[in-house]
Amino acid sequence: MSRATADDRGAAGYFPPNDPLQRLVGLIRDRTGNAIPPNRFPFLAEVAARRAGAKGAASLADYVSALEQSHLPDEWEHLIPLITIKESYFFRAPQQWEVIRRQVLPDLLQGRGQGKPLRIWSAACARGEEPATMAMMLAEDKSLPPWSWSIVATDVDEEALAGARLGLYGDRAVGQVPPEMLERYFSRRGKLYELSAELRSRITYLPLNLAHPPFELPAPEIDLILLRNVLIYFRRPLQRRVVLQVGQHLAPNGYLFLGASETLWQVQEELEPVDLGSCFCYRHRKTPLQAPVKAPVKVPAAPVSPPQRTAAEVPSLVQRPRPAIPPAPRREAPAPAPKKEPVPPPLSVQERLHAAARHLAGNQVEEAGRIIGQVLAVDPSEPAAHALEGFLYDVTGRTDDAVASYRAALYLDPELYQVRVLLADCLLRLGNRDRAEHHFREVLAHLAGGREKNLVLLADLPIPDRLRAQRRCQQVLKGG
Ligand SMILES: C[S@@+](CC[C@H](N)C(=O)[O-])C[C@H]1O[C@@H](n2cnc3c(N)ncnc32)[C@H](O)[C@@H]1O
Repeated sequence: MSRATADDRGAAGYFPPNDPLQRLVGLIRDRTGNAIPPNRFPFLAEVAARRAGAKGAASLADYVSALEQSHLPDEWEHLIPLITIKESYFFRAPQQWEVIRRQVLPDLLQGRGQGKPLRIWSAACARGEEPATMAMMLAEDKSLPPWSWSIVATDVDEEALAGARLGLYGDRAVGQVPPEMLERYFSRRGKLYELSAELRSRITYLPLNLAHPPFELPAPEIDLILLRNVLIYFRRPLQRRVVLQVGQHLAPNGYLFLGASETLWQVQEELEPVDLGSCFCYRHRKTPLQAPVKAPVKVPAAPVSPPQRTAAEVPSLVQRPRPAIPPAPRREAPAPAPKKEPVPPPLSVQERLHAAARHLAGNQVEEAGRIIGQVLAVDPSEPAAHALEGFLYDVTGRTDDAVASYRAALYLDPELYQVRVLLADCLLRLGNRDRAEHHFREVLAHLAGGREKNLVLLADLPIPDRLRAQRRCQQVLKGG
């Protein structure tokens, strides 16, 4: 993996050349995949200074050099817990758990014999809240004998794994556990709750660094993989590699869940998103079965890529153009003859973008992304599509990408003041206060000169109107 530079994480000019903190940012990325955003650099500097002191290093530069030269092999065990984010709690994203309970588990358990236990992997388990939620749900089903399921829970942070094995949680972590389950599976230990030893014994906790595939897991094929709220800390090339590896461990009929607001849009195409009503999951693509060939009839060579349809044949909302992503590799049979699909009445770009905005407002990120991708592939000069794309990145924590999309929207229409406020807020979050202030001032100037344009499409989304935008700009420019 290449060493990070200030430039490639949108922090150009942040560091002087050869700055030890920059080198540490690169080392952390190499080691754990975690791309530390610029707004966390001051925090990292503080942590690193503390650790340098603890190791007796004369300076931060000495400490970083020692890490670079592998002179402090155990140091990562101390550093990783300090820099990774372990925000988690039981029953996080309840809509996913409900779907897992009602649809996914029954589907996976159907017709399973004694020799085929259900295998579940929580791939960034933090202090065990996620695998324990899973274990509770399975234990609730009294028809399931103990041999019928097993859970492996992994994380790069060994301290977090030690916490998971201990099974002690505070009020906040158990806040969403239904009272009867709290009663059944936890005991009070002073101010804390202890997860039952019986349940903990059903989970195997192992260290595993997602940034360094291949992964060693107790079972080669996993039926249900939870890869929630961890890809957001990686940059896209690593996300791709991780998902590729994870996909290789996913059983043919298995299910993969990401965090509720995460998506593999523009990350990969091997796994396909499946709409489960209140949330999405990912599954292996199903290749259509090939009709059996009865006799050695001479057939023309199979096309290497899927047959191309003419524009007139392609229903606008079914087409999935995703620039910059290679087509999914063909797995089995040659492509079947092109099938005519019914052509729905074409929707206008505005209608499609309205639909995307409604999906975004309803947290249907994947569907919104699909539509925005289609519109941009057909008409990249539509500023509203870039604005919505920026908003999508923004809400999924990809601030660098959001900045690029907002900039594209403003390049095409500089008077979209709401987009400018969103851009400025992203820049503030990235630690680029000068540029942010420049944009806040621009917004005020546009508003004062009556040169602002409302983006009607954004009305469904939590985006400041004229008055709120003005207040936000004034607040920041006053130093807020
Ligand atoms: C925000 S928590 C997510 C916890 C849980 N999956 C959830 O959704 O509530 C992110 C976890 O990812 C882990 N993590 C970060 N980088 C990792 C890596 N390279 N390999 C494995 N785990 C990693 C962190 O240690 C942390 O426990």
